[in-house]
Amino acid sequence: MRIVFIIFLLLGIFGCGSDEGNEPEIADKQVRPKNIEQYNLVPEGLKDYYPHNIYFNIGAAIEPQSLDNIREVTFIKRHFNSLTAENVMKWSSLQPTEGNFNWANADKIVNFAQENGMKVRGHTLVWHNQAPNWIFLDNGVTASKTLVLQRMRKHITEVMTRYKGKVYAWDVVNEAISDNFNDFYRTDSKWQNICGEDFILEAFRTARQVDPNAKLFYNDYAETNATKRDKIFTLLKKLKDENLVDGMGLQGHWNVDAPSNELIIAAFDKYKSLGIELHITELDVSVYPSSSDVQSSYTQELADKQMIAYARFFKLFRSYKSNITNVTFWGLADNKTWLDNHPVIGRKNYPFLFDTSFNPKKAYFAIIDF
Ligand code: GLA
Repeated sequence: MRIVFIIFLLLGIFGCGSDEGNEPEIADKQVRPKNIEQYNLVPEGLKDYYPHNIYFNIGAAIEPQSLDNIREVTFIKRHFNSLTAENVMKWSSLQPTEGNFNWANADKIVNFAQENGMKVRGHTLVWHNQAPNWIFLDNGVTASKTLVLQRMRKHITEVMTRYKGKVYAWDVVNEAISDNFNDFYRTDSKWQNICGEDFILEAFRTARQVDPNAKLFYNDYAETNATKRDKIFTLLKKLKDENLVDGMGLQGHWNVDAPSNELIIAAFDKYKSLGIELHITELDVSVYPSSSDVQSSYTQELADKQMIAYARFFKLFRSYKSNITNVTFWGLADNKTWLDNHPVIGRKNYPFLFDTSFNPKKAYFAIIDF
């Protein structure tokens, strides 16, 4: 063990194996493990190879139950310095019935982050999913726009007030833009159908007022698709013109083949041209590019493909380090991912840097080797 460590230290001192090429120099000269044995000998984790003052915060979405599991807690503390609630800050969790707020689960994550010096991204104040029906009803019939907006303002005010100074960035509105070529806003949203785009503007106005120090984000998927990107840009511009938005949340539900460098660069360039920050908010890299791909075990071939994709994505993230300030994964390790049931129910996926036993995969070693 000791000999391995010494060799390993010498490799680090003489800089072998980490030619930075045309990448900007890095301030830290940490020894970076290249295999599981070395990984087990060092305390550092992902966040340490991407110091936030040089690169970005590294986050993960979690459920509060993870904080009852000592193995997961140790793992979270090692690798991440930012947390997102995977579900427990959504409207249906926080205010399932009118006026009755359930804070316990969200508090648990926020308190853990506070105790461990981690940031929290708030996810999400206004979304068409996981929003209880009562918001849109008044005595059994569709509620008026006035009532719906009033409820929205109250929800945002209660939630942001509680976590003021503890949640540093909020996904104020999630997924309002349509995927269809002919529609600007999504049509299957009760927010949109009852309030029109005013719900978006009002959500951001309320958020800005309640916590002027919080960073406000618009968050969406298919964010590199050219048509959708341009629509998102138009919305962001409108918000930015009123000084209502600080950043774009790119969900980053990507796969081993896509998106291409060209599309990612075009999206980063377009969003950052507004002078706003970029957060990658829900990163996972599916091993299945298509919904017709059949379930596979995690073969060497897939591991290699995924390693190449992760290395490609992180190289881009590093080259946009002045604009990207947070990269958050939508989970911890391959033992649990929403992609096991999306878009195909029951098709096991392996989208993370860590396997089902929380051990680092080839992709992990690839993204810390720069
Ligand atoms: C979207 C939402 C997330 C989450 C994922 C799927 O991306 O923003 O909150 O629900 O879908 O898990």
